[in-house]
Amino acid sequence: MNQRKKIIAANWKMYKDLAEANDFFTFLIDKLPDTNTEVLIAPAFTSLWNAFETTREYPIEIVAQNIHQEEKGAYTGEVSAAMLKSVGVQRVIIGHSERREYFGEDDALLKAKVKTALKNELKVIFCIGEKLEQRKANTHFDLIKSQLQSALFDLNKSDWEQIVLAYEPVWAIGTGETASPEQAQEMHQFIRETIAEAFGSDTAASVSILYGGSVKPDNAQALFSQPDIDGGLVGGASLEVDSFIDIIKAV
Ligand code: 13P
Repeated sequence: MNQRKKIIAANWKMYKDLAEANDFFTFLIDKLPDTNTEVLIAPAFTSLWNAFETTREYPIEIVAQNIHQEEKGAYTGEVSAAMLKSVGVQRVIIGHSERREYFGEDDALLKAKVKTALKNELKVIFCIGEKLEQRKANTHFDLIKSQLQSALFDLNKSDWEQIVLAYEPVWAIGTGETASPEQAQEMHQFIRETIAEAFGSDTAASVSILYGGSVKPDNAQALFSQPDIDGGLVGGASLEVDSFIDIIKAV
């Protein structure tokens, strides 16, 4: 029943220029473990094409960190789905808390971005996560449910084959403070149950749900051994080849 994919995805955020990205890929290709886990890397836009060319012979997928919701137009500084596809990208991260927080991306916009991505046959890693005050106020389950509902609940059942979810509690991102395996599992299970209610247990069982937030080589295995955690979306620890490889091996 459970055939969902194990995935380790690197989100490089605004780190690594072209030369630094190239160095990383040279080492990664050399040391990549033989694994069934899917390895995804999301570099900056400026490295996408080169990253795709460098890794195309290897089991490494290049992912974009953002997309614009319109197909084309006078949107200075933005990048469209077609542009991403033209440089080999097949998947995009949408809904990251940094986009929500620093770029004002709200539920309606994220829903539009998901629609545009799927319409253009781009897969999506959709991020959800609560802030510390929401967890302290015990509203985190409601918040996660509403983030899922507002962006993803009008999708068709078949669209879910193109979706990976990433639960990233905002208080754990870049802070060194990780959700405990139990806290993460509790939320991943809740997410899966929420999807099951809306789309059926077969859809819920087949969607990969990644954990993100201070994943490191020394905490990865405890997180990934939880039944509803299917891998990780890794920021800081994905910038260095050895720690990234150790995290891949921990799945
Ligand atoms: P860190 O691993 O640096 O906490 O970042 C997590 C993240 O935001 C991945 O998208």
